[in-house]
Amino acid sequence: MARRKYVVGNWKMNGLVAALGEAQAIFAAAGTHPSVDVALCPPFTLIGAMVTAAPGAAVGGQDCHAAASGAFTGSVAASMLVDTGASLVIVGHSERREGFGETDADVKAKAEAALAAGLSVILCVGEPREVRESGGAIDYVLAQIAGSLPESFDPARLAIAYEPIWAIGTGLVPTVVDVADMHGAIRTKLREQSGAAATIRILYGGSVNGENAAELLDAGDVDGALVGGASLTAGKFVPIVEAAAALG
Ligand code: PGA
Repeated sequence: MARRKYVVGNWKMNGLVAALGEAQAIFAAAGTHPSVDVALCPPFTLIGAMVTAAPGAAVGGQDCHAAASGAFTGSVAASMLVDTGASLVIVGHSERREGFGETDADVKAKAEAALAAGLSVILCVGEPREVRESGGAIDYVLAQIAGSLPESFDPARLAIAYEPIWAIGTGLVPTVVDVADMHGAIRTKLREQSGAAATIRILYGGSVNGENAAELLDAGDVDGALVGGASLTAGKFVPIVEAAAALG
């Protein structure tokens, strides 16, 4: 079945109010490519301003807490993201799993909370370098999916992002064959675990840029890209959107 291409920018801990012009330029260019879904996930502090600056654009968070409210200093609930105009959230990014000790169970709880609040979810998985080198990448990633996929969900509101940790921010990318093999394995796993595999989009992330996007986006079972560094400016991000649009 045809799945619309989905290109998502993860600004991580980058971006002040002065960066909103880049977001406006990105969403203006995205509007000329209606076959591609484009979203940006800025820091929490910019979500409301970005929604105001680019009305109708898909703007999301990079994390949320699993609880609805309470004594969790510094955290943000899914309903708060909705309240500020967000329509999606990234959960389980490797920088959260590694840097903040998030487990598969934590990621699953966050995904379920986000879906319950009405957000779309991008659930990240990906192996560290030593696991790739030892040949265990597919088993590792499928175990992450087994542990972090929500129990039940609308497949139109859930995407998986495969992001090998060693490829994030390093300029290294897996071979197209390795990406296709991993995405195919994830699709099979989703079919077994959820029965909704045909609808769920599987994004590749890790050092995607304007030069390698066409090849990566054309790999088997790749439905889009989750982009970090190259999503911060229109000059770097729009070519990735254009590469997706060229593939339909
Ligand atoms: P990168 O980050 O594109 O800078 O490698 C991707 C990500 O972490 O989502």
